[in-house]
Amino acid sequence: MGFWFLVCIFSLSSFYASSRAEGGNVEGTIFIDGKSAIGMIDEDFICATLDWWPPEKCDYGTCSWGHASLINLDLNDKILVNAIKAFTPLKIRLGGTLQDKVIYDTEDNQLPCVQFVRNSSEMFGFTQGCLPMYRWDELNAFFKKTGVKVVFGLNALAGRSIQPDGSAAGPWNYSNAESFIRYTVQKNYPIYGWELGNELSGNGVGTRVAADQYAADMISLYKIVQRTYIGMDSKPLIIAPGGFYDATWFQEFLYMTGNSVDVMTHHIYNLGPGVDEHLVEKILDPSYLDGEASTFSGLQNILKTSETSARAWVGESGGAYNSGHNLVSNAFVYSFWYLDELGMASTYDTKSYCRQSLIGGNYGLLNTTTFVPNPDYYSALLWHRLMGRNVLSTTFSGTKSIRAYAHCAKKSKGITLLLINLNNTTTVQVNIAFNSTWIQQHRPSHHRSHRPHKRKVLHQRSANGLTREEYHLTAKDGNLHSQTMLLNGNILTVNSSGDIPSMEPVYVNSSNPIVVAPFSIVFAHLPQVLPVCW
Ligand SMILES: *[C@@H]1O[C@H](CO)[C@@H](O)[C@H](O)[C@H]1NC(C)=O
Ligand SMILES: *[C@@H]1O[C@H](CO)[C@@H](O)[C@H](O)[C@H]1NC(C)=O
Ligand SMILES: *[C@@H]1O[C@H](CO)[C@@H](O)[C@H](O)[C@H]1NC(C)=O
Ligand SMILES: *[C@@H]1O[C@H](CO)[C@@H](O)[C@H](O)[C@H]1NC(C)=O
Ligand SMILES: *[C@@H]1O[C@H](CO)[C@@H](O)[C@H](O)[C@H]1NC(C)=O
Ligand SMILES: *[C@@H]1O[C@H](CO)[C@@H](O)[C@H](O)[C@H]1NC(C)=O
Ligand SMILES: *[C@@H]1O[C@H](CO)[C@@H](O)[C@H](O)[C@H]1NC(C)=O
Ligand SMILES: *[C@@H]1O[C@H](CO)[C@@H](O)[C@H](O)[C@H]1NC(C)=O
Repeated sequence: MGFWFLVCIFSLSSFYASSRAEGGNVEGTIFIDGKSAIGMIDEDFICATLDWWPPEKCDYGTCSWGHASLINLDLNDKILVNAIKAFTPLKIRLGGTLQDKVIYDTEDNQLPCVQFVRNSSEMFGFTQGCLPMYRWDELNAFFKKTGVKVVFGLNALAGRSIQPDGSAAGPWNYSNAESFIRYTVQKNYPIYGWELGNELSGNGVGTRVAADQYAADMISLYKIVQRTYIGMDSKPLIIAPGGFYDATWFQEFLYMTGNSVDVMTHHIYNLGPGVDEHLVEKILDPSYLDGEASTFSGLQNILKTSETSARAWVGESGGAYNSGHNLVSNAFVYSFWYLDELGMASTYDTKSYCRQSLIGGNYGLLNTTTFVPNPDYYSALLWHRLMGRNVLSTTFSGTKSIRAYAHCAKKSKGITLLLINLNNTTTVQVNIAFNSTWIQQHRPSHHRSHRPHKRKVLHQRSANGLTREEYHLTAKDGNLHSQTMLLNGNILTVNSSGDIPSMEPVYVNSSNPIVVAPFSIVFAHLPQVLPVCW
């Protein structure tokens, strides 16, 4: 143990030395307010999506979906199985644009069960498609084997007619969906949540449904779930609308659905279209990233002031819409955006965050053809393992280039910090300070004795040999577009058996500042105990 400890310290310091070579150094301080939690995420906060897009789905001349749809995904792939199992559980939301045109091939279905066919005069560019029940059986066997918590998006356009103004009118015809739910219940397939519709709220994408009609449909779904799950102890969550946040629409919908909705899901594509040439610049711009906060806080306020107990999830978020951008959305640089989103969403009490996609498009956590994890897969897994439920308020002073988040640790009474350095040249030495008055003893720091005592900053005790665990993530060869990520200087990759690597920390003396290299991400698990984390 002692030997390995020294080896770790040694390798980390050489890792710092190489990354610090060209640039400057600045000091910063993360202030953690340990008095109370500002948010509480679900244990299974990390969620990813599986979509319906067939191989013929193309954007800007590239077809990035391959065989990654619910209909044709290879469920026997070893890496896929291992990648999901590593989370136990991973929440997966099944849905996307075409979900609203899916027919379930239950016994009542009168239509032929055929797949989506490309046709540019059809809404969303494809005809209706069909989910055969043998495929639903296969999917459920796979979910059981891999321990997935399933959220299923139902076909909210069934029975509606498209009006000249582009809206979809009339009530949801739920008869096919109800028999699908009944089939699912009879087979004992566990469903964590039934979600109604995809991107039909507000102005909608392709078409839209008015809030009052949607609310009436939600009440129908609520009743379907009540009667199909009758006598069962736990019922699935009822989720909507799976669309873009629109204050007026969301408010009206919540008011009219009352307690028929458990979760309000909203979608995020804040980086613009996948074809955008400036995605990386946007990701590296702190004020651009901050732009999403108004959506989170708007929804949080609406939920707080509504009569319901509904909570917020990000139901689908892929950063750049129309399937993302190759070598950006599936490269190291996307982890800056993704982890920042996870951090920010948590501070606004978002309970879960579904990444578009687990696989498929250019924004998959896994490579569409090889199933090999992209950098964001490892970022998601580290978050899942290290970031606990209670979200702590933090402020960072010293440089705008650092994004800083803190949660109670997941598997200890300590704290986990997430620090993201968006600066390409400057290494940031991060001091940790608690600005609540109760914590441990005051120990003036020799580093910063020259600073004015503006705040009552109390420092951690570190004299008794305490160490913390650090996970430093960087791009291979410093290339932001690399699809290979390094953890503490070592390449993260599956081995020839398709096993996900164990991700080991380095151990660092707690009295040293956290050294955050240029263009790097650090998770730091601190031993300090806060009452809010007990
Ligand atoms: C495409 O859809 C339109 C409208 O539904 C239909 O009239 C047309 O026949 C379809 N084209 C093909 C090639 O199926
Ligand atoms: C609803 O759809 C089913 C087919 O799934 C159809 O048989 C039924 O007539 C429709 N109901 C209404 C009210 O249109
Ligand atoms: C998937 O991996 C292969 C092999 O490394 C690579 O050539 C391809 O570009 C990757 N695809 C995507 C979409 O990242
Ligand atoms: C990086 O940080 C240094 C020092 O704080 C600053 O001068 C520089 O402008 C930053 N660069 C970028 C791209 O933000
Ligand atoms: C760092 O980023 C700035 C701003 O994007 C750029 O002008 C500069 O060339 C970069 N420096 C290096 C060493 O990459
Ligand atoms: C902790 O410090 C931050 C930054 O100075 C401040 O915003 C916050 O209100 C402080 N909290 C308490 C409880 O003093
Ligand atoms: C940690 O650093 C402090 C202060 O530099 C030092 O006194 C202590 O011995 C170090 N602990 C370990 C385990 O190296
Ligand atoms: C792959 O990694 C796993 C877990 O680290 C290990 O158990 C297994 O033996 C490795 N297989 C090969 C072929 O290296």
